[in-house]
Amino acid sequence: MFDKLKKKVDDSVVGEKAEALVDKAGDVVATAAAKVPGHGAGHGVGREKFTDSGAKPGKKQVDKSGTPLLSVRDLKVHWPTDDGIVKSVDGVSFDLYEGQTLGIVGESGSGKSVTSTTIMGLNRGTNAQISGAIDFDGDDLLTIKEDRMRELRGRKMAMIFQDPLSALHPYYTVGAQIIEAYKVHHPKASKKEAREHTIDMLARVGIPSPQKRVDQYPHEFSGGMRQRAMTAMALVNDPKLLIADEPTTALDVTVQAQILDLMLDLQQEFKSAIIIITHDLGVVADVADDLLVMYAGRPVEKGDVYDTFATPQHPYTVGLLNSMPRLDEARREQLDPIPGNPPSLINLPRGCSFAPRCAFKHLVPGDRCDTEMPDLRHFGDQEARCFLTAEQKAEHMKPAQTRTIDGADAASTTGAAHTGSAGAADAHGATKVGD
Ligand SMILES: Nc1ncnc2c1ncn2[C@@H]1O[C@H](COP(=O)(O)OP(=O)(O)O)[C@@H](O)[C@H]1O
Ligand code: SF4
Ligand SMILES: [Mg+2]
Repeated sequence: MFDKLKKKVDDSVVGEKAEALVDKAGDVVATAAAKVPGHGAGHGVGREKFTDSGAKPGKKQVDKSGTPLLSVRDLKVHWPTDDGIVKSVDGVSFDLYEGQTLGIVGESGSGKSVTSTTIMGLNRGTNAQISGAIDFDGDDLLTIKEDRMRELRGRKMAMIFQDPLSALHPYYTVGAQIIEAYKVHHPKASKKEAREHTIDMLARVGIPSPQKRVDQYPHEFSGGMRQRAMTAMALVNDPKLLIADEPTTALDVTVQAQILDLMLDLQQEFKSAIIIITHDLGVVADVADDLLVMYAGRPVEKGDVYDTFATPQHPYTVGLLNSMPRLDEARREQLDPIPGNPPSLINLPRGCSFAPRCAFKHLVPGDRCDTEMPDLRHFGDQEARCFLTAEQKAEHMKPAQTRTIDGADAASTTGAAHTGSAGAADAHGATKVGD
């Protein structure tokens, strides 16, 4: 059945198909990422950030003094439908600097993927109503011509998807696709150079026998190997920005850690900026410098990962943290943190989107939570979209758990939360949240 597919694709055919491949996949793929110093492969990626003392000594220094590489301002992506306007993204703003890793978390349907596909220009030409501004390294991504967008995609910015098959074409060898992704942006490179570079990339993402694998088809790769191949394709042009949308969800823990480690390795090498979208706060604890928590199309909390884990400023974030798996529990694929569901994006509540599920809204005088939408407000270096005062949060918003995210323990899962006692937490050097 696969004989035809296995027929080696002639170079000229590959050349001819270049546009098609780029249309279907190449544009969308490609990466650049890397490892923070000292992060061993296989586990414990990025864990030096959290220590027994609660300090952040291993924390990577991100220089935020200059112009951000990526600046997203009041991004809105609305889809008119027969039932009304779906406000998938409704006012997202953030900056991302060279070498910085931003984690975006939130339940399904909170607008994470639409935010990232809009940055990549993949919602152009659809019926999406897009407004706001996205500045990327001197280009305004919402207004540049499609030709320029295509130039940037795959070369300067790239995306890794949850499902590698969405980026790898089944009819072409893995090598042919990576070679093509490279050649499109390096037209002067010879076929031999492109092939050698591709084999090198396959080796770097940990694919054994890359000389042989380069000529194999996606179906001959296991799921983990396909994910690596897609990562190689994403990284082949050393892009400045990598967006990884739930890149590890379908992978087992070991492969997941290796892929994350690889991304951080490449980040170190190329100073790339990374956006990692995930359901899994443990992954965020592993690799991200900063965290953006999305709820119903809007950021509800922003801040340094360490600070956010230690002192979350929004009730939703508290719920997410409380839902993190314990070390002694089987790993959970999805978070289901808080009773109830997110609101319909067509009929968002008039007030705070989280009000129908919020256990703290009685603390806010009157019916303000139900009638007025809170803006993002600063609480020290952190920001949260909530009317509660800092004092109210300190007194009442106590997660049921203390948090352990240190090098030793968290490495056995991906950043675990304990519901145990303060004593147990202390034993692991936990940052205790609440009382
Ligand atoms: N083309 C579209 N038309 C209408 N609604 C859409 C479209 N694409 C996404 N949505 C909706 O936007 C919301 C956010 O989607 P998404 O960004 O994929 O969420 P997630 O946070 O899970 O990645 C979802 O409710 C989804 O159904
Ligand atoms: S504004 Fe009110 S309803 Fe919204 S999160 Fe804060 S306390 Fe809860
Ligand atoms: Mg998504």
